[in-house]
Amino acid sequence: MARRNPEKRQFHYQEYFSRYESLIPDFEEFLEYLRTPMPQYFRINTLKITTEAEKERLLSILREKGVEFERVNEVEEFYRVLNNEEVSLGNLKEYSLGFIHSMTVSSSLPVIALEPKPGEVILDMCAAPGGKTGLIAMVTEDKVFLVSNDKRIDRLTALVSNIKRLGITCAITTRYRGEQFPFGITFDKVLVDAPCSGEGRYRIGLEGEILYQKGPGRANIPAIQKGLLVRAYDLVKPGGIIVYSTCTINPKENEEVVDYLLRKRQAEILDWESPFEFYPGLTEWEERPYHPSLVLTKRYYTHKIKAVGFYVAKIRRIA
Ligand SMILES: C[S@@+](CC[C@H](N)C(=O)[O-])C[C@H]1O[C@@H](n2cnc3c(N)ncnc32)[C@H](O)[C@@H]1O
Repeated sequence: MARRNPEKRQFHYQEYFSRYESLIPDFEEFLEYLRTPMPQYFRINTLKITTEAEKERLLSILREKGVEFERVNEVEEFYRVLNNEEVSLGNLKEYSLGFIHSMTVSSSLPVIALEPKPGEVILDMCAAPGGKTGLIAMVTEDKVFLVSNDKRIDRLTALVSNIKRLGITCAITTRYRGEQFPFGITFDKVLVDAPCSGEGRYRIGLEGEILYQKGPGRANIPAIQKGLLVRAYDLVKPGGIIVYSTCTINPKENEEVVDYLLRKRQAEILDWESPFEFYPGLTEWEERPYHPSLVLTKRYYTHKIKAVGFYVAKIRRIA
């Protein structure tokens, strides 16, 4: 019987990421940064902590419990944990009570691009475990009509429990494959925070974070992403907004997916104001040209944003 060669299963991150050397600014700094642990962030949930006095009290309780943190100036209500190794936010009573939610600051970017407003009808197509659903509800003061969908029952359980914990009443949950989400509701906006290879989450030793490493039988991720994005377009009203985001670097899961939509449907890319430094979307990759307007989409690299690497595209349905 053939024996498994352990050497074969090793993940050589330098070799893996070298494919992006021409893309990632300060590439050596990027590789070095992968050695540092993933920073923890949390946000205060203003659906439950409603006054400045309550906020101050909460922050002082967190300090008393040994959480050291600093405010993130770029995004309201976000804090960065400084003593990462010693703190597990999920174990705190303040977390269980829904006063804080643990989420990376880059996860706020798709919601900032979406600009949800009270009264809008919004679909969060790939919503579990609910980081962005929670933020959409919070910035609209729980006054949107939010459909939070995910195809995985195990992740839906986490989504429902986060919605309850955070005190959200404006969201309903559904379980569909996004590509087959039924027509019937016309959405003002759709967020497609797509399943992806997760390269932006990678840290040395966390090979499992990169889905492309899972070997034979793995899904064709870009094909799924294209299906989700086209359906999102078809579900939104003419003039409506779609935000497409991933936490990966791979242009085939980012610009190429959006470029596919632009070829299939009448859509335009919109600019939006980013609170963090970003790098413009690519208009070419591996000799394949993309639509020039993809330059308006935004790339965030792990070592620059000091959080999870992200890609965000804001799209308007034209017809
Ligand atoms: C990046 S995660 C979403 C994170 C979430 N938006 C948040 O902020 O917490 C991608 C999600 O897509 C879901 N998913 C994967 N394939 C899907 C599909 N075909 N339709 C809908 N959801 C899908 C996964 O179960 C996963 O929960």
